[in-house]
Amino acid sequence: MKTDPKNTNVVIIGAGVSGLTLAAFLQKSGISCMVLERRDRAYIQTRQRAGVVEARGVQMFERWGLADQLLGGPVAQTIDYRVNGASRIFEVIGEDGSPGRFCTQQMLVNNLLREVIDTMGGAVVFDVADISISNEANQHPRVNYTDADGFHEIQCDYIAGCDGDHGVSRPSIPHGVLTKYSHEFGYAWLAAHVAAPVTGHPIMAISDHGFVAQLPRGPQRSRYYLQCSLSDGPEDWTDARFWDEIRLRLNDSRIENTVVYDKLIVPLRCVVHSPMQYRNLFLAGDAAHLVPPTGAKGMNLALYDVGMLAQALVSAIRDQNATALEKYSDTCLPHIWNYQDFSVWMTDLMHDAGDAAQQGKFRQLIARARLDNLFNSPTARRLHSEFQRGMV
Ligand code: APR
Repeated sequence: MKTDPKNTNVVIIGAGVSGLTLAAFLQKSGISCMVLERRDRAYIQTRQRAGVVEARGVQMFERWGLADQLLGGPVAQTIDYRVNGASRIFEVIGEDGSPGRFCTQQMLVNNLLREVIDTMGGAVVFDVADISISNEANQHPRVNYTDADGFHEIQCDYIAGCDGDHGVSRPSIPHGVLTKYSHEFGYAWLAAHVAAPVTGHPIMAISDHGFVAQLPRGPQRSRYYLQCSLSDGPEDWTDARFWDEIRLRLNDSRIENTVVYDKLIVPLRCVVHSPMQYRNLFLAGDAAHLVPPTGAKGMNLALYDVGMLAQALVSAIRDQNATALEKYSDTCLPHIWNYQDFSVWMTDLMHDAGDAAQQGKFRQLIARARLDNLFNSPTARRLHSEFQRGMV
């Protein structure tokens, strides 16, 4: 699809999973759009991000006729939940017992770049700077930016703010329009990208020394997440201390030190900005909300938003019916709060069940009883499994 560079239906700011999925859906529906991204394509292609597309997302891509192009084939999803080193394998299955497809965020983003740019010929401009947004009442919105060719101005019908928590879209909304709701958990994760593949199943583990997870990031690498103090910096975690703590929390002395590529402290928190729209600007994904990584819901919430937004934009532009667009925020927010609820429950459960110094021995034993219940009660297990797959 060719897009007039001075005029397009939708300007999408940000080429993460939200912006690229929205671009794919709009282009598939014959709606012109242009994606503006501040990074280069190589950076987006190699950036490591968390999450696997859950069943709801798979169904959404199937409805848009893009599942085969963008997602992998059916693969069983399992999680190894460990309590003080004792392992219990949890299979994430659908109500009908089916395993679903398996597609990580990085695989999806790479497939989206290929589909949106190389197959559909869509306009994605990388390396842009100085984006500014004009979103006045009763006027067509305009987006200005600069790139290697100089200054550009695009007129459009709508703007999609898909530029994450630190983008320019949300700050362009006048003060007082949005309300920010947030929850701090009071601890952080040390996220470390290492040269050690996940050899068995992805691991979520609790121990008397705190939470630890190991999740795959490509065939030869994985990311460890270690619960740590909010006041810690990466400099407090030497490689030697990091690996000692992994061995301790996983109760496995056979784990060997490997190369640690980077270490980053991630404070665990939840945020919702409401409403998710202002005039002709619509926020989606991390630009509108954040969840802690524990429940693996960040990318899936983003996919939910852009599925709703794409449908609403198609109705407004192609069918001249803006009803769904006017209700975009009201439609998304109940779902977002539901996912916040799951993420808080899961985060509290996994951390309370760990180091008793965090919340006390009583909370630790309650949390461990809940985990037992999760594994031993068929109903609790099915509900958890369904939620992991995004069915409830
Ligand atoms: N101008 C242009 N692009 C920008 C700007 C800006 N001022 N600020 C940010 N961006 C780009 C970022 O470089 C990034 O590529 O916007 C994109 C936002 O992508 P993400 O942060 O990945 O956010 P989103 O697409 O909403 O993805 C959902 O779910 O699991 C979570 O955080 C995880 O990436 C994941 C997210």
